[in-house]
Amino acid sequence: MRRLATLLVAAAALLAGCERPPVTMVQHGYRGTGMDQVYNPRTLATQAALNTAPEATPPVPADGPKASEVFKNVKVLGDLSAGQFTRLMVAITQWVAPPEQGCNYCHNPNDLADDSVYAKVVARRMIQMTQHINADWKPHVAETGVTCYTCHRGKPVPAQVWFQPAPAKKGSDFAGNRAGQNAAAMSVAYASLPNDPFSPYLLGDAPIRVNGTQALPAGQRSSIAATEGTYGLMMHMSQGLGVNCTYCHNTQNFGNWNESTPQRVTAWHGIRMVRDLNNAYLVPLKDTYPKTRLGAAGDAPKANCATCHQGAYKPLYGAAMAKDYPELQGGVKVALAPSDGLPPTEGSPTGAILYFAVGSADLAGDAVPGMAQLVASLKANAQAQAVISGFHSASGDPAANEDLAKRRAFAVRDALKAAGIDEARVVLEKPQVTAGNVAGEDPKARRVEIAMK
Ligand code: HEC
Ligand code: HEC
Ligand code: HEC
Ligand code: HEC
Repeated sequence: MRRLATLLVAAAALLAGCERPPVTMVQHGYRGTGMDQVYNPRTLATQAALNTAPEATPPVPADGPKASEVFKNVKVLGDLSAGQFTRLMVAITQWVAPPEQGCNYCHNPNDLADDSVYAKVVARRMIQMTQHINADWKPHVAETGVTCYTCHRGKPVPAQVWFQPAPAKKGSDFAGNRAGQNAAAMSVAYASLPNDPFSPYLLGDAPIRVNGTQALPAGQRSSIAATEGTYGLMMHMSQGLGVNCTYCHNTQNFGNWNESTPQRVTAWHGIRMVRDLNNAYLVPLKDTYPKTRLGAAGDAPKANCATCHQGAYKPLYGAAMAKDYPELQGGVKVALAPSDGLPPTEGSPTGAILYFAVGSADLAGDAVPGMAQLVASLKANAQAQAVISGFHSASGDPAANEDLAKRRAFAVRDALKAAGIDEARVVLEKPQVTAGNVAGEDPKARRVEIAMK
C-alpha cells in the first residue's frame, strides 16, 4: 500500500509538467504531414481574457492650432492638433501609467514642459519606436500594427522583458563554463538549453541556421553549441506565441522553407525587427533609466517575441488598435536620433548610400526608408538600372568581411526584387576599392552604394 502511494506521488510529480487532458488539435498543414497545433482550452480561456484590447476614445479634429504652437517642448508630436495631442496623452496614460499616478508618472505637475522625469524622456523615445515599428516593419506587423498597450498592457514595465544573465563568478563552478546550460530557465521553457537564447540572436546576429544542406556531413560547420542556441531561441518563439514548432515548420525538415508555413516568413522578419528595436531604441536608453531598472549585468531591459505576443499567435489576437491612433503610424516623419548609431542614408537622384550596423547585413534603421525611396525612384524611372556594391570596415577578419560586404549587397538586391523591381535592372558589382578605412571600425565604411544608371 505504502509502495503504491509512493508510486502515485512519483507519477503525479512526473506528470506535473504535462498538460491535463482534454486538449484540442487543429490541423495546420497538408493532410498526413502531422502539422497539428495542440491547444489547451483552459489556457485559451485565460489567454483570451488577458488579450482584450481597451476601447479607443472617439477621434478629435485634426484642424485648429498645432501642438508645436500651443505647447513649449514638443519634439515628436508637433504636427498634431492640440486636441489630437491631448487625446493621445490621455490614451498613453491609460496604456502605460499606474492609475494612482496618472499624468504625474511622466510629468512634473508644475510644468508639463519640463523633461526632468525620466519616464517622460523614455516615453518620447517609445513614441518614436512605436512609429518606426508601424511604418517600417510592415512585413511583420502588417496593418495591425502596435500601440504602447501591445507591450505595456496598462503597466509601466511590460510583463515580458529580458536581461543578460549576471556574469558567472570566476572559479565558483567546478564544471567550468556551462554556457548557461542546466540552469532551468523559463526563457527556454525549462529545457536544459543555454538559458540566454536572446543575446546572440536578438541583439547580435549570430547565424540561426544550423541544418546541414547535404546528406553526408561534408562541409557542415555548425557546432552542437550553435544548434543548442538555435533550439533555445525556437523554444522561446514557440512559448512566446503559444504555439508548437509545427506552426512554422514541417518537422521532417526544419530548414526547408518550401515546406514551412507562411508564418515562418513573418517570424523571420520578426527576428530582424526585435534585433533592430533592441539595438536602436532599447539598449541606448540604458543611461536614462534609474539603476533599479537595469539587470544584474547592468544592462537595459530589452524586448523579445513575448514582449508583444505574450503567449498569443498575434498580439491581442490581432486586435487592430493602431488604426485608431494614426499619429502612431509614423505618418509624421520621425527624425532618427544620433543614438541610432548609423550615419543617415544619403539619397540623391542618381543613387544612394545605405549604412549597416557592425557585423550586420540587415537593412535596418534609416536604411529602411532609404530603400523605399530608392524603389520609388526606380519605379518612376523605368529605364534606370541599379548598380550595387557592398563595402565593409577595416576591422575584423578579411575573409569574413568580404562575405559580409557581399551579403550587404545581396540584402539590397533582394529587397529591390521583393519590392517588384525586375531582376534584369539590378546589377551587382564588386567594388573597385574595398578598404573603406585604414584602421578600426568606421561607421561610414559599413555601407552599400547604389548608383542609378
Ligand atoms: C507615459 C508618459 C506620459 C504620460 C503618462 C503623460 N504624458 Fe504628457 N507628455 C509625454 C511626452 C513624452 C511629451 C512630449 C511629447 C513630444 O515631445 O512630442 C508630453 C508632453 C505633454 C504636454 C506638452 C507640454 C509642453 O508645453 O511642452 C502636455 C500639455 C501634456 N504632455 C499633457 C499630459 C496630460 C494632461 C497627461 C495626463 C492625462 C499626460 N500628459 C500624460 C509623456 C507623457
Ligand atoms: C515593443 C514593445 C514596446 C512598445 C510598443 C512600447 N514600449 Fe515602452 N517599454 C518597453 C520596454 C521593453 C521597456 C523597458 C521596461 C523597463 O523600464 O524596465 C519600456 C519602458 C517604458 C517606460 C519606462 C518605464 C519605467 O518606469 O521604467 C515608459 C514611460 C514607456 N515605456 C512608455 C511607452 C509609451 C508611451 C509607448 C507608446 C508610445 C511605449 N512605451 C511603447 C517596450 C515597449
Ligand atoms: C513562429 C515561427 C517558428 C516557430 C514556432 C518555430 N520556428 Fe524554428 N525557425 C523559424 C524561423 C523563421 C527560422 C529561420 C531563422 C533565420 O534564418 O533567421 C527557424 C529555424 C529553425 C531551425 C534551423 C533551420 C536551418 O535552416 O538550419 C531549426 C532546427 C528550428 N527552427 C527548429 C525549431 C523547433 C524545434 C521549434 C519548436 C520548439 C521551432 N523551430 C519553432 C520559425 C519558427
Ligand atoms: C513590436 C511587437 C511585436 C514583436 C516584438 C513581435 N511581434 Fe510578431 N506580430 C506582431 C503583430 C502586431 C502581428 C500581427 C500581424 C498581422 O496581423 O498580420 C504579429 C504576427 C506574428 C506572426 C504571424 C501570426 C499569424 O498567424 O499570421 C508570427 C509568426 C510572429 N508574429 C512571430 C514573431 C516572433 C517569432 C517574434 C520574435 C522574434 C515576434 N513575432 C515579435 C507584433 C510583434
